[in-house]
Amino acid sequence: MFFFKEGFNQAKFRRDIVGINKKVPLIKGGYKTCVNLDNAASTPVLRPVLYKVNEFMDWYSSVHRGTGFKSQVSTHVYDTAHTIVGEFVKADLKSNCVIFVKNATEAVNKISYRLGLSKDDIVLTTLMEHHSNDLPWRSKAQRVYVDVDGSGALDYTDLENKIKRCRGRLKLVSVSGASNVTGYKSDLSRIALMAHREGVPVLVDGAQLVPHSPLDMKPDRHPEHIDYLVFSAHKMYAPFGTGVLIGPRRTFLRDAPEYTGGGTINIVTRESVEWAGLPDREEAGSPNVVGAVALAAVIQYLSKQDMKSIENYEKELTSYILKKLKEIKGLRVYGENDPSRLQNRVGVVTFNLDGVPHGLVAAALAWEDGIAVRNGCFCAQPYLLNLLGLKQHQVSQLVFKKKTGDLSNMPGMVRVSLAAYNNRSDVDRLAACLQKIKSMAKSGQLAKRYTFSRQTGTYYPRDTKADPKDIFKFH
Ligand SMILES: Cc1ncc(COP(=O)(O)O)c(C=O)c1O
Repeated sequence: MFFFKEGFNQAKFRRDIVGINKKVPLIKGGYKTCVNLDNAASTPVLRPVLYKVNEFMDWYSSVHRGTGFKSQVSTHVYDTAHTIVGEFVKADLKSNCVIFVKNATEAVNKISYRLGLSKDDIVLTTLMEHHSNDLPWRSKAQRVYVDVDGSGALDYTDLENKIKRCRGRLKLVSVSGASNVTGYKSDLSRIALMAHREGVPVLVDGAQLVPHSPLDMKPDRHPEHIDYLVFSAHKMYAPFGTGVLIGPRRTFLRDAPEYTGGGTINIVTRESVEWAGLPDREEAGSPNVVGAVALAAVIQYLSKQDMKSIENYEKELTSYILKKLKEIKGLRVYGENDPSRLQNRVGVVTFNLDGVPHGLVAAALAWEDGIAVRNGCFCAQPYLLNLLGLKQHQVSQLVFKKKTGDLSNMPGMVRVSLAAYNNRSDVDRLAACLQKIKSMAKSGQLAKRYTFSRQTGTYYPRDTKADPKDIFKFH
């Protein structure tokens, strides 16, 4: 499929974001336009995606099941969406297939079953992974973790050594394309070269990469080829529940799918089953055609805007945020914090503010100025504890404390994650609010305004009439 590139138009991109001008309540009363700096969790939706979904709804019907005309339309749309997704990341669709699931987590889980691993096999993953690219492997094979250095960057020498050391038993190298904690971007070509030299396939967790950088899986025989790729639509402006798994057709054809049922078969008798072709046999049950439409629509939108230009713009904004954060005394950025070193990173920036708990910083950003961020461990606890330099006995103490129901003083950070619709004024508001939080902490005002629950580990404003439960009603 060919997309005419219109070029990146940041002002238009921003205007196209649904809810960009939404006002949220503040602690002092009144409302202010929100700033969303929590895109690594989920991005908002792009209006053209919403329009495309609405346009489709007149034709919405069953997929691969009905004889009605609408069913035929829905089936065609759903099948075409697979092609659009595969072409976006330059997968060779003759030998590889695109499988739609719920999200990136389900995609990693699915492939962890479909590789047919045994307990003696090894999956080499890294210390910087999201839990979704760590936990699914734990029950299937032995895991070996590649080290990271003090700034959270992958240790490629360790990677190479471990690939060699695991020779014979190593079945997969599974790495994140970009970290959801430090924004660190792995050198995927280098990793693929190392793994393929030993005949081992590579899986890339593209959840934080695909929405922000062009990605080329490369032809199957290319030494830098990415064998498996997973990512999520809700992190790329299409929050309608689609995850993507791309991989070699042969992987999925060799035995029965881990989920079976409607849609997965050609013939069933009392005694035997003949599985359907791909991707049907891997997409059990009625599929999420609306999610597929949304993902295909967003890919068309991003392709027209041009992923390379989006990447460049986000780099420039990342440089700007790093400069602004450097001006705040007592603020420590984890990972690469040099505004001129942007080669190996995306716009995810985590930090702590001296003397102010991360949960309090995050709550104050939301309630003082309507700025949405995230705090905590970001589903990457091993990486985070490493970056914070916690020793094993400290971790054990924390685990014990948590078990007793006391969530005070839990380790964590504040995370800001940028997307193409954010701009310098969003960053300026963040920086100004952090300065304000610093002085409020110093004067003791923060402690007066916010209260902490040990049971939930969350800070709440002491005195506000705004209640999220009052905002959206189903009746
Ligand atoms: C790097 C990375 N991998 C995987 C996931 C899981 O994505 P999902 O929640 O869509 O399953 C996330 C989510 O934040 C992530 O950041």
